[in-house]
Amino acid sequence: MRTIRLGVLGSGTGSNFQALLDAIQAGELHAEIVLVMSDVPNARILERARGVGIPASVIDCRGYATKFPEEAQHDVAAAMRDAGADLICLAGFMRLIKAPLLAVFPQRVINIHPSLLPAFPGLEAWKQALDAGVSEAGCTVHYVDAGMDTGPHILQAKVPVYPDDTYATLHARIQAEEHRIYPEAVRHIAPALLD
Ligand code: GRF
Repeated sequence: MRTIRLGVLGSGTGSNFQALLDAIQAGELHAEIVLVMSDVPNARILERARGVGIPASVIDCRGYATKFPEEAQHDVAAAMRDAGADLICLAGFMRLIKAPLLAVFPQRVINIHPSLLPAFPGLEAWKQALDAGVSEAGCTVHYVDAGMDTGPHILQAKVPVYPDDTYATLHARIQAEEHRIYPEAVRHIAPALLD
């Protein structure tokens, strides 16, 4: 079976991109990252990609601060198709994906979210969890549909919430699990995505 080709979209530091790359380099995930794209021109994720020779480019969001305009989604779909991506992994990508991109990659866009979905969709889910006083938090890898953090789940991991947790300590504990389950989730779904 050939190696699955991944495209990655991110807006921030790219620690989940790094986790995918580390798993590949360790021989734990048989995949290749063919393209990284970001809507934030100076995002660390682009630096990380370029540092290891992975093509990395900026998405032109036509001046919109939070919206992911259709033209930009077409650009991303075309670039990902040209790069030969089989699967698009969202890794801290802060804009909502809609039809133009999902239509070109149906059931082939996945995301990592820092909560036990369906609890706490949306921004800064670890803060929502701590504020809600739950005793258990975690993270979810899921398929992306047109909603916000609503697609079918692939894998989840739980972490405890301790009484003395701060936003930062809880987020760090969740992120450690993100880095473990994201490569695992890709490994799990890859065979079905390869012809
Ligand atoms: C992660 O917490 C992820 O769950 C969320 O955005 C954050 C991205 O972090 N979707 P990083 O850029 O991968 O470090």
